[in-house]
Amino acid sequence: METERRAKLKIENLTLRFGGVLALFDVSLDVRENEILAVIGPNGAGKTALLNCINGFYKPQEGKIFYEGRKITRVRPDKLAKLGIARTFQNIELYTGLSTQDNIMAARHGLMRQSFLSGALYFGRARREEIEHRRTVEEIIDFLEMAPMRKKIVGVLPYGIQKRIELGRALALEPKVLLLDEPMAGMNLEEKEDIVRFILDMFEGQGATYPDTPVLRDGIRSIILVEHDMGVVMDIADRIVVLDFGRKIAEGTPAEIRTNPDVIKAYLGREK
Ligand SMILES: Nc1ncnc2c1ncn2[C@@H]1O[C@H](COP(=O)(O)OP(=O)(O)OP(=O)(O)O)[C@@H](O)[C@H]1O
Ligand SMILES: [Mg+2]
Repeated sequence: METERRAKLKIENLTLRFGGVLALFDVSLDVRENEILAVIGPNGAGKTALLNCINGFYKPQEGKIFYEGRKITRVRPDKLAKLGIARTFQNIELYTGLSTQDNIMAARHGLMRQSFLSGALYFGRARREEIEHRRTVEEIIDFLEMAPMRKKIVGVLPYGIQKRIELGRALALEPKVLLLDEPMAGMNLEEKEDIVRFILDMFEGQGATYPDTPVLRDGIRSIILVEHDMGVVMDIADRIVVLDFGRKIAEGTPAEIRTNPDVIKAYLGREK
């Protein structure tokens, strides 16, 4: 066990109900240092619900969540973002009237120490801080290859680019754990390949290219990826957890999951 990578996130016996619907039932799993963990399962399996519990949107009725050994089960989403847990959304949640740049900048506001409303101070510390934040935002835009769309209003940009901006907003929080909810849903092959490359690059870190931006330099060493595209999942996940009707039915390496009879049954339909 000692050779096993340390758990970054530990989820114990999570149960989440909506009235009579059991969205999650007794789900336990670890997200380790240095891994991309895929969470898969049929529609309605509880994948998004799991991410919503981890980042504090939903309060599970039972169970506990630990981040770096600290219990975070009842901590609010903005506090969790400051602690280092960020996510993207299955449905795009951007400020459609703002530019790419401002959408990513807005994500950083919670991280800012100085308020822009602090009057005269603006020309001192707050101004320097804003310059620093803008520099990080520019690096993220560059990393995601969105320089030409920097000033464009996001509402008019193609869907694939909007999904990429979502990724940029999550990166702007400089997370230690990144939760991705179907980051390439609805994309064509080429767009998917781009997103896969971004995920791998942001996982590994790009120190040579971005030495002054810690999140890009050092990488995000724990990622949960919710994804329906099995080709992508099998390709980039270190481990896979399978949910079905709110329950964890399997966990293992891609090779183990591919041949697991319970997983095959969940995907191909049940015997009567
Ligand atoms: N806010 C909510 N209110 C009521 N029921 C909910 C709510 N959120 C999720 N559910 C229910 O919980 C179950 C799990 O939903 P969830 O969105 O987590 O599924 P999913 O695995 O993400 O599916 P998909 O692949 O379609 O995104 C579903 O039965 C869903 O209807
Ligand atoms: Mg979902």
